Amino acid sequence: MLGFDIITIFPDYFRTAFDYGIVRRARAAGLIKIAAHDLRRWTQGRHKVVDDRPFGGGDGMVLKPEPIFAAVEELTNKQNEDEPSKLPARVVLLSPQGRVLTQSLAEDLAQEDRIILICGRYEGVDERVAEALATDELSIGDYVLSGGEPAAVVLIDAVARLVPGALGSETSAANDSFSNGLLDCPHYTRPPEFHGMRVPEVLLNGNHAEITRWRKKEALRKTKRNRPDLLERATLSEPERLWLNEINQEQ
Ligand code: ADE
Repeated sequence: MLGFDIITIFPDYFRTAFDYGIVRRARAAGLIKIAAHDLRRWTQGRHKVVDDRPFGGGDGMVLKPEPIFAAVEELTNKQNEDEPSKLPARVVLLSPQGRVLTQSLAEDLAQEDRIILICGRYEGVDERVAEALATDELSIGDYVLSGGEPAAVVLIDAVARLVPGALGSETSAANDSFSNGLLDCPHYTRPPEFHGMRVPEVLLNGNHAEITRWRKKEALRKTKRNRPDLLERATLSEPERLWLNEINQEQ
């Protein structure tokens, strides 16, 4: 069982976010558990203040450290109901300044028992959270969101489907994009002709060895077109190098 605890000033944002598809099934099967906690619960005083002006001046507000530290301390001191001996290994701060989330990091996170996610807001989060509380500062990509909430949904989705049992026996993550450093190959279903576009003949002829070869080559073609950066870093097998040469010659 992997438990996610989200610390946020917008707990309602998550009301139905995890009620669909694989994440819903994984929750129903008891493989994962997700709770959203209102950061204001850990504030002092009537006004439930979570933010303050930045030292040194400048625009916007910064999330204060005290409520965030108090939240993580309470959540980690409370014993994990299912496995009392296990304390959380990961406290993730979501921010555009973080390391970028990748499939291999998602695979890592799927091995944990408990992950606490801190959603940043406003202009930022007091740096002492990143320095002394979070085990990881993660970004979901090189663009700025108005807060960490959508990033938390993305991270939980990417990790939940990798928890053993979540995908069911008929599907597997082995062929997913990025699992081998390349993008996934193109997929087709009926009809065999649509708006004048034919499904590649090889997929219709039932020759499975040929289909496997076609898929590997087309995954390379797709990766070259959309993510040449991935192709540069990938370790290709001998046949893959040959297919890539063929593709390069086709132009
Ligand atoms: N908060 C704002 N932008 C973000 C990003 N790109 N990733 C994670 N959290 C964020």
